[in-house]
Amino acid sequence: MPNIASMTDEKSLSNEEMTAEIKCLTREKDAFILVHNYQLPEIQALADILGDSLDLARRSAETMHKIIVFCGVRFMAETAHILAPDKLVLHPRPDAGCPMADMVDVEGLRNLKAEHPRAKTVAYVNTNAEVKAEVDVCCTSSNAVKVVEGIDAAEIIFVPDCNLADYVQRFTKKKIIPWAGFCYVHRRFKVEEVEASRNQFPDALLMVHPECDPEVVALADVVASTNGMVKEAKTSKHKRFIVGTEEGLIHRLKQENPGKEFYSLGSPKICENMKKIRLEHVLDSLRMDQYKVTVEPDVAARAKKALNEMLRYV
Ligand code: 13P
Ligand code: SF4
Repeated sequence: MPNIASMTDEKSLSNEEMTAEIKCLTREKDAFILVHNYQLPEIQALADILGDSLDLARRSAETMHKIIVFCGVRFMAETAHILAPDKLVLHPRPDAGCPMADMVDVEGLRNLKAEHPRAKTVAYVNTNAEVKAEVDVCCTSSNAVKVVEGIDAAEIIFVPDCNLADYVQRFTKKKIIPWAGFCYVHRRFKVEEVEASRNQFPDALLMVHPECDPEVVALADVVASTNGMVKEAKTSKHKRFIVGTEEGLIHRLKQENPGKEFYSLGSPKICENMKKIRLEHVLDSLRMDQYKVTVEPDVAARAKKALNEMLRYV
């Protein structure tokens, strides 16, 4: 892992100055900034595209720009590199990983596949490239049910998120064989928080991410990916919303819906890795072309098949 100390002297440049230089370098170098919905407000403000995992993967595959600066966690930047191998993909904080993605490894997955020879394997996109290279198809939280229904098998090994696996199982007769991974951020949402929020805001719509525990998901009005929640907030007649996902999304929801109110389900829940990227890291990234995302070519080629298969499902 490279030393990620920022070269930019934070004290000498204001946020406005850093933002202006980032915009200037983006134009000069023909770069494109992709930002996940959980990033800090000042990083969201830089976005050419602000989105969920599926949207950002699709946009990476389609872009005509020379450089992609990916502001999200490592598996997302890796996915962009695999889908757009002729572009320079930069990840400003290569130490920003997703703990859930690290919960499944190739050896364990191969063993599980050997135990279930008739099953096909679906990997949530929150996995490392080596794991994607072992599976039939990837999915995100916005197309997981469609992918499982679309795949030609009655038994499906689903890695790594057991909560998303449980959610998918509600919509399919196929047998889902889950892995025991989870997201530590979404695990923090509790049934007691749902009860307290319902009492405080009885007229609000409760939206939660399918990475939440099944008991929380069962009480929600809407279960959706982060972009799914953005769409719901725009189109719903409700004026108030309780949001059961990482707090970065609430910033976007408020920005885009000034007449509506958004509250975190219980205390705000933060993904530490999503918050690692700051303006000075994006600026250094563009100034010095760092940090270049690489994946071993054979792994990338096999992972790309599973990702391209995923992109067939809207
Ligand atoms: P989305 O694809 O819904 O944005 O989710 C990504 C993620 O990491 C959720 O924790
Ligand atoms: Fe990973 Fe959870 Fe953070 Fe999403 S919120 S990147 S699943 S740790």
